[in-house]
Amino acid sequence: MTRLNLSRDAIGDAASQRQLRDAFGRFATGVTVITALLPDRRRTGLTVNSFTSLSLEPAMILWNLRAGSPSEPAFGKGRAFAVNVLATAQQEVSQRFCRPADDKFAGLALEDGVDGVPVLTGSLAAFECRVEDTVTCGDHRIVIGRVLAARYGEGEPLIYSQGRYCTAAQLAA
Ligand SMILES: Cc1cc2nc3c(=O)[nH]c(=O)nc-3n(C[C@H](O)[C@H](O)[C@H](O)COP(=O)(O)O)c2cc1C
Repeated sequence: MTRLNLSRDAIGDAASQRQLRDAFGRFATGVTVITALLPDRRRTGLTVNSFTSLSLEPAMILWNLRAGSPSEPAFGKGRAFAVNVLATAQQEVSQRFCRPADDKFAGLALEDGVDGVPVLTGSLAAFECRVEDTVTCGDHRIVIGRVLAARYGEGEPLIYSQGRYCTAAQLAA
């Protein structure tokens, strides 16, 4: 078991940052693509695994956006966005949305969400949201969304664990 002591200073060197990433990566997650419109109505989207449900009544979710991301203007208070929960067949979609590109949406089947936000067809679930609040914390911004509509279908979720895409295999009871 590796132990990284973070109590002294901020982690500056690349090796310690790698170790912290590796430790965080032990927490397996699902994979989402957050889609939205920039103020000039250009489509934007990014792969996100920091998504979590937050509240049932009212329905709220949150996720974290890297501070300084070119997508930041899309997530001001009151703006609409969609959380697309990816299925195992959408590994390529995850790869596409985790790299900068002129049009990440080219050739993808889309549906219209709140305020015209694109929703990715074929996702396991999608939550159409409006930004309730944002909180800057460290090098990320927490985006809190109120859920206006939820869709979901049948299928298997895409899992991300220790830097790899996986499927969720059921263990014997
Ligand atoms: C599995 C996975 C999860 C990710 N989760 C997040 C996240 O929670 N927040 C974030 O800001 N970036 C996250 N990223 C990185 C962004 O997808 C990546 O920086 C993307 O290029 C951002 O889009 P942009 O360059 O158009 O801003 C994740 C990437 C991967 C592969």
